[in-house]
Order: sequence, then structure tokens, then C-alpha cells
Amino acid sequence: MSNATTQSPNTADLTERLTLKAGHCAVAGLQWGDEGKGKIVDLLTRRFDVVTRYNGGANAGHTVVVGDEKFALHLIPSGILYSGKVNVLGNGVVIDPAQLIKEIEGLRGRGIQVDGDNLKISDRAHVVFPYHKTQDVLFDQAVAQAWEAGAALGTTGRGIGPCYADKALRSTAVRVGDLLRPDRIKTQLNRAVAIKNVMLSALAKQCGVEFEPFDADEQIALAKQWGDTLAPHICDATQLLHAQMGGGRQVLFEGANATLLDIDHGTYPFVTSSNCSALGVATGSAVPAQKVTEVIGIAKAYQTRVGGGPMPTELSDATGDRIREVGREFGTTTGRPRRCGWLDLVAVKYSAMVSGATGLALMLFDVLADLDPLNVCVAYQHGDERIEHFPADASVLDQVEPVYESLPGFAGPIDTCTAYDDLPAAARGYVDFIEQFVGVPVRIISVGPRRDQTIIR
Ligand code: GDP
Ligand code: IMO
Ligand code: MG
Repeated sequence: MSNATTQSPNTADLTERLTLKAGHCAVAGLQWGDEGKGKIVDLLTRRFDVVTRYNGGANAGHTVVVGDEKFALHLIPSGILYSGKVNVLGNGVVIDPAQLIKEIEGLRGRGIQVDGDNLKISDRAHVVFPYHKTQDVLFDQAVAQAWEAGAALGTTGRGIGPCYADKALRSTAVRVGDLLRPDRIKTQLNRAVAIKNVMLSALAKQCGVEFEPFDADEQIALAKQWGDTLAPHICDATQLLHAQMGGGRQVLFEGANATLLDIDHGTYPFVTSSNCSALGVATGSAVPAQKVTEVIGIAKAYQTRVGGGPMPTELSDATGDRIREVGREFGTTTGRPRRCGWLDLVAVKYSAMVSGATGLALMLFDVLADLDPLNVCVAYQHGDERIEHFPADASVLDQVEPVYESLPGFAGPIDTCTAYDDLPAAARGYVDFIEQFVGVPVRIISVGPRRDQTIIR
């Protein structure tokens, strides 16, 4: 397979059918991640010239299925399978060079071209070092062991939180551009490693685990090696994006993680450490918000979550198990079983509002076939109070009971449907209910992982 041949014959036709306003477009998850953003970004890439990640890091796992080939992308934008496109890792992304290099090599090994022309990395993005990953794991473990099991965030262990924390702290941070400046990196890493060793040895003691201090020289050598390998990709992505847009080229922004995991707008503290809603596009790529004219909000036809935190519609029963099995709901990044439950429309409506969704993509609809009835959450009951909005306080969300509306189920399979009218009447009723409740049209319906298993309305 090569970038030029990954285009399935019938998807050109498919994507042409989607009407998009002139301007740039963002794709953002509206739940707790894994909604199928990778599939939609891949599908839309045909219509764009540049695909840009603006947040998160290797905590993301975006799956693209082409024919019988499956690609799991963690850092590289999901536009990489097309030739002639520029893929950008924006300043808001935290980059684990070891993971990135592994991913580049993995794609090349499968015949996909990845070079300095089609993969660009912002010199302002921050670098994840091995000590960030150690800190990530130890910190969550220490919180759970020393204080309260329920307080653990259940992070992906990819060093995301510690790297963003260092970005905010500044003195211990390293940016991608620094990898190309050996003198500066030496000073920075000597300082950072000394501070990390003090902190990590105390954390390890707290957890009762062995800790081998990090060696500054080893980290410096690693940084040099990463800089040498990634040099052809590193650039001022702010200038690059503005030059591309100035030249009339269209940018597709690929959100990682999802709106309910957004550090400001999600179910804090059970969130990730970046602005993963579409609001993050501006700060994470230096592209002003008004340039983004379309936001496609990606939502599963049901709800899932990995890691800790409230999830009012979670099903700890046979229906939940069935959704997990049929939807193959196991993490792309960590392999953890995902928590599954009914669609939470209060949450999706909130996310669509925050991310400014101009259209919805309803994903994994095929998974709900043959379940009857289909419950959707339309409000929360909190003691005597009925709550119609998404609460800011995660502890309130943890105490609420979902108020369900039961909708008729539909018989499957629907994974061969290619037009809206091919769907059973009850399936169309489910879609209509969602768009009326959320107030945003469902413009894409996905009925299987492949590109061609997509209905454009
Ligand atoms: P992302 O993180 O939002 O890109 O989503 P993930 O890739 O982590 O998880 C979505 C999973 O669902 C992947 O395994 C996809 O291949 C799969 N998928 C996407 N759309 C559909 C669909 O419509 N039906 C089914 N059955 N699977 C889908
Ligand atoms: P994609 O892009 C699902 C969750 C983790 C954890 C919390 C914090 O594939 O949708 P972190 O490692 O980011 O500090 O973990 O956020 N999380 C995700 N869950 N999909 C993701 O990304 C996620 N990224 C982070 O499970 O609960
Ligand atoms: Mg994922």
C-alpha cells in the first residue's frame, strides 16, 4: 500500500456529497474519546490540503481502516494515508519523539511515504521525555494508594499531564525546537533531570516501588538523537499554516481526545491536560477561531469512557457487555476495556455547544442493531431536582441518575446501507431524535469501520 493507492474507489464520490462552507474545518470528539475521529478525518482529508493536530499527544489512538488494512495513529495526523497532503503537529501537541519515530517507521514499513514534505512538526510543541511517563504512572498510583482509590485519573501513562505541567512551569520544559540546539538542551536537561529525580524518588517511596534515577547525560544523548532524526520535519508551523492558508489551501483540524476530556470544559478533574474541544484549535495551532467555518462534532451512537470519572449512563450489565463486544470497545492506545452505556444526549448537546458543532457525525450506529428498546438520556435526576444541563461539578454528575427516553430499536445488519433511506424507519427515528434534541444536523452516519461504510446526508 502507498499513500497514492489508499483511496478506495468509491470514497471520492462519498466525500463530494458532503456540503462544506468555504473555509477551514475542525473535527472534534463530543464524548470521552474514541468516537471515530480518525475515520472521519481520513475520509474528509480528500477535500483538504493540510491536516493539523492541535492538542494532546500519544494518549490519542485514532484508527483508520482501509479495505482490510487497519492503521492505529497516535501522533501522526490521520491525513497521512493520502499523497500530496501536508500533515502538521501544531504547537499545542505534546510530542514523544520515541513514539513518533516508531510510528513513522511503522508507516514506512507498510509502504506509506512519510518525509519532511508531508509531515511537519511545530518547533513550539513540547517534548515528552521518559521521566514524564514515569511521573504520570507514579503520580496516579500515589494518589490512589496514599489517599483514595477513586481519585486516580486512570491516565494513559503517556506522560501527557506531566509534560503539559512542565510547559506551564516553564523552567523544566523542553520544546521541539530545542532538540536542534545542543548547547541549550544540555543546560535545560541537566536542570530538569535533577528536579525530576528529587520528585520521582519521593513519589516512588510513597508508592513503595524501586526508582532508578534518570541520568542527565543519557537524556541529553537521546534528545540529540531525536533532533537528528526529526530535523527534516521541524519547522515554524505557525508561519507554515498561515502561508498555506494565504495561498488558498484548506486546513482540516484533527482534535485528539474529546470535549468531555477538555481541561477547562470537561468533567474536571477526570479530564486530560489540553483543550481538546474545537476551542483548542486557535491556541494549539495559531489559527484564529473565526477562520474555522465548519466544526464536525463526532459522537458515537452510544457512550463510552476509559479511565476514571463519572459516566451517568454506564451499563454494568449484559447490555453494556454486549455493546463492548459488538463495538470492540477496547482502547486503541492502552487496550483497556472501555466502559459502555446508553447515549447521553445532555452531554452531547453540551459538547456540541462548547465545540460549536455545525454538523454531527453519528458513529458506530451498526453496533446498536438488534437492541430494543434504545434508551437515550435526556436529563439527569439529582435528588429532587431534574437537571436539564450538563453540570460543571463532576461530583454532581457522579450522583445523578439518568432520565431516559426509550426509542424503538431496529433490526440489523445495517452495515451495508449506503443511503439514509436504506436505514430501517426506527433507525431514522433515532437519528431524527438526536438532531432535534441537540439542535445540530446529523450530516454523517457511520455504519462500519471502513471508509465506504458511511452515509452522507
Ligand atoms: P478515535 O480515537 O476517535 O479516532 O476512535 P478510535 O479509533 O479510538 O475508536 C473507534 C473504533 O471504532 C475504531 O476501532 C474504528 O475502526 C471503529 N469504528 C469507527 N467507525 C465505526 C462504525 O461506524 N462502526 C463500527 N463497528 N466501528 C467503527
Ligand atoms: P482519542 O483521541 C479515550 C482519557 C484517559 C484518562 C484521561 C486522562 O483516542 O479519543 P491522559 O493520559 O490524557 O492524562 O488521561 O483521559 N483519555 C482518552 N480516552 N480516548 C482518548 O483519545 C483519550 N485521551 C485521554 O483514559 O481517563
Ligand atoms: Mg481513540
